[in-house]
Amino acid sequence: MHNITLINGDGIGPEISRSVIEIIASAGLSINWDIQSAGSDVIEQEGTPLPKRVLDSIKKNKVALKAPVTTPIGKGFRSVNVQLRKDLDLYANIRPCKNLPNVKTRFDNVDLVVVRENTEDLYAGIEEQIDQNTAHSIKIITREASERICRFAFEYAVKNERKEVCVVTKANIMKLSDGLFLDSYRNVAQEYPQIKQREILVDNLCMQLVQDPTRFDVLVLPNLYGDIVSDLTAGLIGGLGVAQGANIGKDCAVFEPVHGSAPDIKGQNKANPTALLLSAIEMLKYINEFEHAKKIEKALFKTLSDGYKTADLGGTLSTTEFTQQIIKNLL
Ligand code: NAI
Repeated sequence: MHNITLINGDGIGPEISRSVIEIIASAGLSINWDIQSAGSDVIEQEGTPLPKRVLDSIKKNKVALKAPVTTPIGKGFRSVNVQLRKDLDLYANIRPCKNLPNVKTRFDNVDLVVVRENTEDLYAGIEEQIDQNTAHSIKIITREASERICRFAFEYAVKNERKEVCVVTKANIMKLSDGLFLDSYRNVAQEYPQIKQREILVDNLCMQLVQDPTRFDVLVLPNLYGDIVSDLTAGLIGGLGVAQGANIGKDCAVFEPVHGSAPDIKGQNKANPTALLLSAIEMLKYINEFEHAKKIEKALFKTLSDGYKTADLGGTLSTTEFTQQIIKNLL
C-alpha cells in the first residue's frame, strides 16, 4: 500500500481530486491518501495558505498529488506553489506535452517534454529599486543547479527512451549567466553519448515550436524560459484542461496540473479532470506502478477516442459523467 499526500486544493480542486481518486481506486490500486487542505480556504483558521502539516506530510510520504489552489492576491502570502518548490527543493519542473486522441489541435504527433530548472534564474526574487525610475532584477545561475537539471534531463531521456536533449538559452547575449548554463549542459552531455545533443537559442526555439513542434524531443531550460515555453507547449496539445506537470526534488515529488483553481466554474461539475489524471498517471510511473498507470491511461485515451469529452474540449459531459466513462473503460 502506498502512502501519498493529496492536496485537494480549492476552486475546482476538490471536484477533480474526487474524480481521480475514484478512477485510481476503480483500477484496483490501493492508495492510502493523506488528504491535506491548503490555499485560501485554510488561511482564516490556520493563518497561512501552506500550514506546516502539509509540508510534514509530503516529507513523510515523499510523494504528493496536488490539485490547484487559489493564490490570494495582495494579502502578503507567497504562492503555495512557489513556497512548496522552495521548501522541498523541488528543483525540476517536468511538463510532458503529447497529443491526446481526438483532441484536435493545430499539429499532430506532438510528443515533447519540457524540463525546467525551478530554483534560480530571475525567479530567485533578488530585486532592487535603484531610484524611482530604475529597478534591477538579478539573474542567478550556478554551475551546481545547472548541472543538476541537465543531468536530470539526460537521466529522464534514458529512462523514458527519448533520443535527444536540447538545451535552450540566450547565451549569445547573456554570455556569462546563460553561457554557464550552456557550459554545464555540455559537461553533463559527455556522460550520455547515447543521447543526441542539440543547442538552440530561445527565440529560435519559439519560432520553430509554432512552425513544427514535432522537431523537438526533450528540452532543458533555465527557469524563466522554461516557464514561458512550457505554457506555449501546453497550448500545442489543447490547453489547460489537458496539461500535466510535476515538480521533482532529490527527496520528494509533487505532481500537479498546469491549470489553476478555475473559480469561474467552481462547484458546477464542469471541470475537466484530465490534467490532474495525467499528472497522477506520471506519479504512478514514478512510484513504479507502471501497469496501473498504463491501464488508466488506456481507459482515458479510449474515452476521448470514443468522443466523450467535457465542455472545455467541446464536449457535453459533466465531470462525474466523464469520470464514470473512464471507469467503464478500465479493462
Ligand atoms: P485557471 O487555470 O484557473 O483558469 C483559466 C481558464 O481555464 C478558466 O476559464 C477556467 O475555467 C479554465 N480551466 C482551467 N482548468 C480547467 C479544467 N480543468 N477544466 C475546464 N476548464 C478549466 O487560471 P486563473 O483563472 O488565472 O487562476 C485562478 C486561480 O488559480 C488564481 O488564484 C491562480 O493564482 C491560481 N493558480 C493556481 C495554480 C496551481 O495551484 N498550480 C496554477 C495557476 C493558477
